[in-house]
Amino acid sequence: MKILCIGDIVGKPGRQAVFDFLPKIREDLGIDFVVANAENSAGGSGVTKNMADYLTRAGVNALTLGDHIWDQRCFEGEIESVQNLCKPANLPPENPGKNYVLAEAKGLKIAVFSLLGQTLMKIKADCPFRAAQKTMDELEKIADITILDFHAETSSEKVSMGNLLDGRATIVYGTHTHIPTADARILSGGTAYI
Ligand SMILES: [Fe+2]
Ligand SMILES: [Fe+2]
Repeated sequence: MKILCIGDIVGKPGRQAVFDFLPKIREDLGIDFVVANAENSAGGSGVTKNMADYLTRAGVNALTLGDHIWDQRCFEGEIESVQNLCKPANLPPENPGKNYVLAEAKGLKIAVFSLLGQTLMKIKADCPFRAAQKTMDELEKIADITILDFHAETSSEKVSMGNLLDGRATIVYGTHTHIPTADARILSGGTAYI
């Protein structure tokens, strides 16, 4: 199973790059499943159903979001109609949208969810570590593969999350900072982390 995780896709150049290059990358690398963060895909801030559908047509299987989730005003009325997209699972439960996406690839069930960090984040969410454990309790019963997009500012918070879910989640990767880090590794419990 080869899974590609894409960080925040920003504005038209980001969308266009995904549309132009993702099909070839999928083919060249034999990618089976693609997760991407769409929180900046509409005008650089927020997302719409249109943008989510565009990215899905380009080959993204599951879409995650972040602190910019509600920046496009129409989206709170649209989120429930986008099947392959989830809100951060530690937003208050009154927020519309689902806490995870459940999909299938190569006969395996794949669950994707995201969480917001708390350090230096303007949007206030519940404790991501409690929410991570609660969500994993649920997902472990229904999925073969679990993927967490931890949308947070500091690498320390992300490292803590990786350690917490090591051996439980299949992949823990960070988004939000719009810059990659060179710390990709397999943790001691077998979780892939960057
Ligand atoms: Fe972002
Ligand atoms: Fe963000």
